[in-house]
Amino acid sequence: MSADDDKRFAAEAAVAEVRSGMVVGLGTGSTAAHMIRALGRMVAEGLDIDTVATSVASAELARSLGIRVHDFADVPRVDLTIDGADETDDRLLVVKGAGGAMLREKCVAAASTRMIVIADGAKRVPAIGAARVPVEVLPFARGFVMRILAERADPALRMAGGEPYRTDQDMLVVDCLFGDLSDPHDAAAWLQAIPGVLGHGLFLTEVDAAYLATDGVVTKLERAVDRDQ
Ligand code: 5RP
Repeated sequence: MSADDDKRFAAEAAVAEVRSGMVVGLGTGSTAAHMIRALGRMVAEGLDIDTVATSVASAELARSLGIRVHDFADVPRVDLTIDGADETDDRLLVVKGAGGAMLREKCVAAASTRMIVIADGAKRVPAIGAARVPVEVLPFARGFVMRILAERADPALRMAGGEPYRTDQDMLVVDCLFGDLSDPHDAAAWLQAIPGVLGHGLFLTEVDAAYLATDGVVTKLERAVDRDQ
């Protein structure tokens, strides 16, 4: 069984939480694409949902499958968001953004009553920190932000096709490797306080549950304490 099969199993388990009448947040990436395809099949069979997407690619995929997608600017509240992850520990401290959509993903997650991440089991780690943490950066401030990030996090400007990678909102991504991520809340606060940093891939409070599949077996992790407490 391949990792992609496990991504699909996790996605198909998570969509069982979707009910008609919900506003659903659509994540980004290969696992989220499985989820969107599963929702497309459910919509074709009569599921009645409204959605917002965390990337242009996810919006296009969803619309191509007949799923109603709204502009997030018009949607103040989301019932349930399902998104991928790059790393998660069992406390649901999560790193996201390998696909570069972490700023929109963070906005949609924050607007959501419930957020679920879906992934193959290789993304489950004892402690987050081996994956680089993507940071979205205003191009105007690139030099300054890179200098500050270098104090703690070995910054690497993300490239694509020989050019700096650009997000859906035309910003840069700097992938950061923290020497010590034992206090991710401190790292997140430090990142967020740098002028020119627009967002980052540390999701420390947003995720309520995870569906993680290994060799076809899906494990569900649920946050022990309500994230709003
Ligand atoms: C995009 C993300 C993705 O959800 C994350 O990178 C996982 O991607 P994949 O499902 O392709 O492994 O955060 O910004």
